[in-house]
Amino acid sequence: MAKRYFIHTFGCQMNESDSQRMGEALARAGWGPTETAESADLVLVNTCAIREKAEDKLYSALGRYRLLKASRGTRIGVAGCVAQQEKEKLLQRAPYVDFVLGPDQLARVPDLAEQGGVETGWVDSEEYVFPQADPQSSRGRATAFVTAMKGCDNVCSFCVVPYTRGREVSRPYAEIIREIAALVNVGVREVTLIGQNVNSYSGGCSFADLIRRVDEVPGLQRIRFTTSHPMDLSPELVRCFFEVKRLMPHFHLPVQHGADTVLTRMRRKYTIAQYEARIAQLPPGVALTSDIICGFPGETDDEHAQNLAFLRRTHYDSLFSFIYSPRPHTGALLKLGSGTEWAEIPRELALQRLEEVQALQRARTLQRHAALTGTEVEVLVENAQGPKRFGRTRENVAAHFEGDAQVGDVVRVSVEKTGLMALDGTQTGILNQAPFTEVRPRRHLAVVSA
Ligand code: SAH
Ligand code: SF4
Ligand code: F3S
Repeated sequence: MAKRYFIHTFGCQMNESDSQRMGEALARAGWGPTETAESADLVLVNTCAIREKAEDKLYSALGRYRLLKASRGTRIGVAGCVAQQEKEKLLQRAPYVDFVLGPDQLARVPDLAEQGGVETGWVDSEEYVFPQADPQSSRGRATAFVTAMKGCDNVCSFCVVPYTRGREVSRPYAEIIREIAALVNVGVREVTLIGQNVNSYSGGCSFADLIRRVDEVPGLQRIRFTTSHPMDLSPELVRCFFEVKRLMPHFHLPVQHGADTVLTRMRRKYTIAQYEARIAQLPPGVALTSDIICGFPGETDDEHAQNLAFLRRTHYDSLFSFIYSPRPHTGALLKLGSGTEWAEIPRELALQRLEEVQALQRARTLQRHAALTGTEVEVLVENAQGPKRFGRTRENVAAHFEGDAQVGDVVRVSVEKTGLMALDGTQTGILNQAPFTEVRPRRHLAVVSA
């Protein structure tokens, strides 16, 4: 019987996509996927280092998998951003781990699974070859992530990503288009172009041009992208939201803070006025979402008040907010505690500020969703179980509904109930049918936790 692998994925879309690529590399070497860690010969944890909590999750997961190793000899591998950050040190803290591999080394996973070891070298930008997706592993899915670029050349003072993902490398556009066409051929209807900073893309054309080229792929219904840095938001990209019909009206443009003085300490390279001027150019109806960090070193009551004031006048559709977490190698960690400007914010105060930010946004998101009650929204079906369907609206709001549509159909849903996280309703019509009805159950290549 084939050896079985199980991948536990933490972190962002980049990691989800890397997990899929690693699953494909293992499949080519004769491994098969399995649905539970308990039935696996290899457990691979794909990790995130963005905040300390993310790292803690790795060690608690490893604690569980270690027991499997003791009882049935399961091999354990650690991939992703913590692997890149800790390298050999990870083996000191968790000696039962068999191998460690960084994000540039995805293709090495079958070898390492056999031999063990640590592989966290960077591949030079000029030599880097993006792993090509095997479209078969997306068969039966309505949506897919497609890598547009990797790494990040910014130096935001709070962020570990430049140290775990290396320099920016853009993927040649012809490769991206070929991959999307192959995904559409197996039934994928929506692609999300991913990268830590996708709008600084330079793989032979600009990011705006890339979107227009993707828009020419026959059969594709929806285009999304994430994440963007406000500094690299070009007028051409804004124009895409007006002109490219299949580009969905949702834009995640993380601001991080509403006070210029904090943005300067964060090294974000824009002012709030510049940010506001840019978002003002977007067409009405584009859902805008963002990230906010509370309790950044030195954050004063006044800066926090500016943050709240900014959030009050900026109508985000939804918001992810976090308490600042000091990360290794970063500029803010080096300065943390040096003078009042970089004073550490006590946890209780940071938490209180976070709660204020979240309360403000919660009310707004609830209100936005409630306003949809009684209207009809357009949803791409991603999941179908019995009469229950799940999908997302054009604005990227989750929708649960009852209906008979297939995975991949675009349907109209009448909204009956709404909450903070999702809409609830009933299918009232099919707008666009998936080109074929073969729907295989979603293969469990990877389990994802937030
Ligand atoms: N490349 C994206 C962000 C990637 S990380 C961008 O530039 O917008 C996702 C989010 O995690 C960030 O937007 C930020 O809000 C948050 N984050 C990153 N580092 C953090 C840290 N050290 N502490 C708290 N939140 C952090
Ligand atoms: Fe991190 Fe800034 Fe790069 Fe985003 S742009 S990944 S926040 S360094
Ligand atoms: Fe986490 Fe690495 Fe993504 S730190 S957010 S998995 S790039």
